[in-house]
Amino acid sequence: MNKKLQFIIVGFLAFLACETNVEEDLNAALDCSQVEEYYTENVKPILEPNCTVCHSGSSPSGGVSLDTYTTVYYAIKSGEVLDRIQRESDDPGFMPSGGQKLSVENIFVIQKFFEMECQ
Ligand code: HEC
Repeated sequence: MNKKLQFIIVGFLAFLACETNVEEDLNAALDCSQVEEYYTENVKPILEPNCTVCHSGSSPSGGVSLDTYTTVYYAIKSGEVLDRIQRESDDPGFMPSGGQKLSVENIFVIQKFFEMECQ
């Protein structure tokens, strides 16, 4: 086999192996600090520019605050957040209200958080 092609294939397989590991890590029973870390690294950067302008402070919209790990944890785990962000932008109750639908990648990040179990 052509050396260069071989190199590319091996590299690709290594990449796939890494991807699979991340997937397994997320699905295994996690330490709760890992869930919080996932929030800080992945979820917070999505909610901050899109949601907290309305969902924070002393009287957050809909009574839902999305600016701390604890409040976000319950809002996402209840399924409410996924329900709203998966609606189409012209549907009633769509979130972010008045904004653009989150990207497929960002919705996936929230979906992952919803599925994460820890102990
Ligand atoms: C421009 C202001 C605004 C923005 C930005 C916004 N929201 Fe909202 N949100 C509201 C208002 C007002 C309500 C209450 C009315 C309703 O339930 O639709 C609400 C309600 C909700 C509810 C339902 C709360 C409940 O339990 O009744 C959820 C969940 C929610 N928003 C999530 C989000 C998420 C996630 C984002 C970001 C992707 C977001 N919102 C961005 C204004 C906003």
